[in-house]
Amino acid sequence: MDSDDEHDPLHPFLQNTSNDASIIPEQPRSVRHGENLQLTFSGGDTSIALNLSLDASPGCGGIAWPAGEVLAQYLVHRGPQFVQGKTVLELGSGTGLVGLVAAMLGGIVCITDQAPLLAIMRENVELNKLSALCAVNELNWGEPIPANIPVPDVILAADCVYFEPAFPLLVQTLSDLVGDNTEVLFCYKKRRKADKRFFALLKKKFQWTDVADDPARATYSRESISLLRLSKR
Ligand SMILES: C[S@@+](CC[C@H](N)C(=O)[O-])C[C@H]1O[C@@H](n2cnc3c(N)ncnc32)[C@H](O)[C@@H]1O
Repeated sequence: MDSDDEHDPLHPFLQNTSNDASIIPEQPRSVRHGENLQLTFSGGDTSIALNLSLDASPGCGGIAWPAGEVLAQYLVHRGPQFVQGKTVLELGSGTGLVGLVAAMLGGIVCITDQAPLLAIMRENVELNKLSALCAVNELNWGEPIPANIPVPDVILAADCVYFEPAFPLLVQTLSDLVGDNTEVLFCYKKRRKADKRFFALLKKKFQWTDVADDPARATYSRESISLLRLSKR
C-alpha cells in the first residue's frame, strides 16, 4: 500500500486488507443517497451551474472525484465552441459530472459507466434538465462496444486509473473507440506506484501530451493531477 489519501477510490479497501488483486472498489460511507452538491464552473465568458445528486451506495463513482472537477473546469475554460455540435462520450462517468458539463456547453453527450451507476447518472441528467442532450448508457471497459454507443468526436475520462485489474480493460476500450481524429482528454490523479503499469500498457497503443493551455494546471499539478491529450500511435 502506498496511499493514505482518503479521497482515493480504493481508500476504504486499503484500510481493510492487503490483497490488491481482489479489490472491489468501495465508497466513502459518509455520502448517502440524495445528498446534493451544487457546483459552479467559470471561465472566459462562460459560467455553468450544476446540481449533482450523490450516492455512495452503488460504488466509488457515486461521488464527485477531484480529476472530474478539473476536467469539467477545463471544458468550461475552452468554452462552448470546443464541444458544440460534437458527439462526446464520457467513460467511467460516475455521477456524470464531466459529461453533464459538456452537455451544458452544447455537446451531444453520452455518459457511460457500469450498471450500478446508471440510476444516479439518469437522476443527474433529469436534475439538470439535460435529457435532450445527454444519453446514459452502460459501457463496461474491455467488453465489445455496445451498438448504442455513438462514434465519438471527443472522449472524456476522469479519475479512471485506480484499480489495477481494470487497467488493460480501459486501454482496450480506448483502443476500440479512438480513431485518427478523435480528441481524447484524460484526467488522471496519481495515487500509487502501480499506476505506472497503466501507462506502460497505454504506451503500447497511445501517445500523450500534457494539456498546456489550462490556467489551473499549476494548482492541480500540486495535487498530483494531470490532464492529458491522448492520440493513437
Ligand atoms: C473514481 S470514479 C470517477 C468517476 C467520475 N469520472 C468522476 O471523476 O467523478 C471511477 C469510475 O470508473 C468506473 N469504472 C470502474 N471500472 C469500470 C469498468 N470496468 N467499466 C466501466 N466503468 C468502470 C466506476 O464505476 C466509477 O464510476
